[in-house]
Amino acid sequence: MEAVLAELAVAGAASDRPDINVLQKARAALARTDRAPLPIGVLLSGSGTNLQALIDAIASGDLNAEIRLVVGSRPSAYGLKRAEAAGIQTLTLSKEVYADPIQADEVIAHELLAAGCEYVIMAGYMRMVHAPLLATFPNRVINIHPALLPSFQGAHGIQDAFDRGVKVTGVTVHIANAVYDMGPIIAQRALAIEEGWDLETLEEHIHAIEHVLYPEVIQMLADGRVHVRDDLTVEVRPEGSGL
Ligand code: GRF
Repeated sequence: MEAVLAELAVAGAASDRPDINVLQKARAALARTDRAPLPIGVLLSGSGTNLQALIDAIASGDLNAEIRLVVGSRPSAYGLKRAEAAGIQTLTLSKEVYADPIQADEVIAHELLAAGCEYVIMAGYMRMVHAPLLATFPNRVINIHPALLPSFQGAHGIQDAFDRGVKVTGVTVHIANAVYDMGPIIAQRALAIEEGWDLETLEEHIHAIEHVLYPEVIQMLADGRVHVRDDLTVEVRPEGSGL
């Protein structure tokens, strides 16, 4: 244990922006009851049902996390109202700030750090994330995609899968990096498409899966179970495996 802490201290001293593996190792080393709620920030652009699922999972005790800040890319995003209703601090950047995406991400990264967030959770955030955010939270920006990556990348994953007539689709939770929709995959859940489903039915099933899977994955992070290998695949370790 002392050796581990010494190792973490060295890694921490080497960087004030530790990679996910350093932080995950530190959480894994603690007993479950000693782990403080995982401090997270959420980025969104729309209705925020995934944010709501996280708020509800925290409230019910299923998710040991604390949402410190919700960032909305547009003032009309209903997700901001959900955050306010739950008493969570929000930030909406103006169009002028977003005109320069790098500057916008510098502001966002600064505010997330100031709020003490360790992980950045994208939940229907319809913008790219850029170097200032990715470098500030190395391998710690997480995204949910409504298809089984690497299939059906982009902004219309559900519709594209439906139109292609695939028989199985699903949901992916992955780490966002510089290559859009191609970062390390943490978890996937498959869904068989039944005869007779229309697009709306498929969307309902996909969202229902998202609202279970996203809290589950963030709980894995809260438990320190997520390890990114050098080849950018992810190992999810059993709870309680320690180090
Ligand atoms: C979800 O389908 C998510 O997979 C995608 O955007 C949608 C956001 O929905 N990235 P909501 O705003 O959480 O309701």
